[in-house]
Amino acid sequence: MSRVWRLDTSRQTIALASRNDRLPEVIYWGLGLPDDEDLVKLHDAHTIDVTGGMLDANPELSICPESARSFPGQPGLVLADGHGASLHPRFAYESEVTGKNHVSLTYSDAELGLVYTVHFAIDPATHILQARAVLEANRPVRLHWLSAPVLPAPQHCDEMWDFTGRWCGEFQIARTSWTTGARLRDNRTGRTGHEAFPGLILPCRGATYTQGAAYALHYGWSGGHRMVAEELPDGRRQVQFGNASGTELEPGTRFETATLYATYSDTGLNGCAVAFQRHLRDRIVTWPNPDRPRPVHYNCWEAVYFDHKLPVLKELATRAATLGAERFVLDDGWFGTRDDDTSSLGDWQIDPRKYPDGLGPLIDHVHSEGMAFGIWLEPDMINPDSETYRAHPDWALGPEDQVLGRQQMCLDMANPEVRDYLYGCFADLLGKNEIDYIKWDHNRVLPMPDAAQPRGTYELLDRLRRDFPKVEIESCASGGGRIDFGILSRTHRVWLSDSNDALERLRIQHNAALFLPMAVTGSHVGPRECHTSGRVLDIRFRAWVAAQRHMGFEMDPRELSEDEVAVLQQVTAWWKHNRTWMTQADILRLDSSDPAVIAEQQLSEDGARFVVFAGKADTSAQIAPRPLRLTGLAPRARYRVDILNREDLHGLSRGTVALKDGPLEASGQYLMSQGVALPWSFPERMWVVEGEKL
Ligand code: DGJ
Repeated sequence: MSRVWRLDTSRQTIALASRNDRLPEVIYWGLGLPDDEDLVKLHDAHTIDVTGGMLDANPELSICPESARSFPGQPGLVLADGHGASLHPRFAYESEVTGKNHVSLTYSDAELGLVYTVHFAIDPATHILQARAVLEANRPVRLHWLSAPVLPAPQHCDEMWDFTGRWCGEFQIARTSWTTGARLRDNRTGRTGHEAFPGLILPCRGATYTQGAAYALHYGWSGGHRMVAEELPDGRRQVQFGNASGTELEPGTRFETATLYATYSDTGLNGCAVAFQRHLRDRIVTWPNPDRPRPVHYNCWEAVYFDHKLPVLKELATRAATLGAERFVLDDGWFGTRDDDTSSLGDWQIDPRKYPDGLGPLIDHVHSEGMAFGIWLEPDMINPDSETYRAHPDWALGPEDQVLGRQQMCLDMANPEVRDYLYGCFADLLGKNEIDYIKWDHNRVLPMPDAAQPRGTYELLDRLRRDFPKVEIESCASGGGRIDFGILSRTHRVWLSDSNDALERLRIQHNAALFLPMAVTGSHVGPRECHTSGRVLDIRFRAWVAAQRHMGFEMDPRELSEDEVAVLQQVTAWWKHNRTWMTQADILRLDSSDPAVIAEQQLSEDGARFVVFAGKADTSAQIAPRPLRLTGLAPRARYRVDILNREDLHGLSRGTVALKDGPLEASGQYLMSQGVALPWSFPERMWVVEGEKL
């Protein structure tokens, strides 16, 4: 007997079916099926053949493949009883709850006293499927691995893309060919990681950013994830995502995965990217005031580091305001006796040497310049050289003789006493000072992964947000080390990278846009000579790269020449003028014909306007620029297209490119098929092209 279920949006269907009350398998995931499709028949049609060298029937590739049912690949659940003896459940159907856009299914193994429940929900507007699994036991069991509901990977797909990276080099795409066996990512660092953004993209054969079919998945967890993308010997493919293996350190009676987010697109990788961008912005992030335009930031880190002097900070604030900043963020160095990174984490009391009258005088000054005030914290951490550690050495996570990271240890966030202490410090700080923003940092990996740690952090964040609902929070972990939908359901911005090198940033934010919208992605104009790469880049390029996302500054404004000030004022004014529609826009990566050009198009919600950022990341192989093909336009509509930064034209560009002399008018079809001819430029320059529908 078959049971069947389906979830639909206007562009995709996911169908599940089970036989004889066993766990269901996803029998279809792709372009929307007709409403009257007979899923029981599809279930039969889905069955693959059996031949020599196989069992007499192929064990199901279910939503949780079971080791006890002859499944030849990685199981979805690895479990032991309280004494460590392996358990191999065989689940049977118990009950279900279904609604228009959601399905929950409960299965049990009566003999082992286990209940397994999965929850699927689909968002008809954003096209994002959400799935998670819960395991309950009638006595404590040890969980080694629990996958979120397992999804099949398509057959007409030659490679998978996941993400690697490093400090100052986040969101690097790793491409792996599908072949028999598994690609395993098991992030044992205990945090999301620069090197392990929990995402996977499955471009179907022939897909590009702008066309073709693709699937994408993201696991919303901040404690390090495990991914298994496996092709079985029979050719079937499965994708599993869950918490890193072995991170449930205690036996328990209830375990659950974080949410797996997934989508299918028939409009290229951009279709997936837009689904994630919108879902994150409109469903995951809870904005204290959704109508508040994203304020331009000034962060003082790369200007003063730990050297906090009130008159200097005031001057920086005044100069930042002149550039157009609307929020001043006081970074590391304001508490304890923190003159460098060797001490004081955990001592969250204002340093009276640097701030004899508290933070009030600085905050008042920042306010008098028309800016809001934000502050840096690193709550999950403690320095052995701190009053707090000396009083409570047992609050630190892991053994005393562990290898330190940045001279610091992690606090045991699972300990309620630790959380109460931190809550008390921050509630006092936020209660006594007008602070509207926290930059929440996390600068080392855990001594060992432990799922209780991110759960403790989430709890503290939730408590603070409940009591200080107006405060916005930025997730930072030495830059982009903690970026995922789990942390972003409690925060409002990510510090994408510690690299303020515009060239690096151009690539990092381009790749991050496969999941992240502009609204949450911080991007700052850094110092003239970049502190993390030594590169010296032109102010125009630095400014436009920052203007692609949530814009800010992070240099010492006293280093700026008059020309640089003028450029920053002009670009910031442009950004402010456009941020309302850009915040709601989709970021579409363009299929640039020139690998030296990294280009994107931000298309407004109503499709009536767009801006293209074409960053020249390298010198081109050919002499003249190749036309840049746009996307997402109405083929029959006419558009006016114009270069915004025409003043950046170089004298070596001697030709008669139409856009040099003024706006161009053309159909959407032309702009998407032939593309826009841009003037020649040096590398490390950006063309900014605006377009409007006529
Ligand atoms: C690492 C962050 O990524 C930087 O932006 C800065 O806040 C430092 N920590 C402060 O210690």
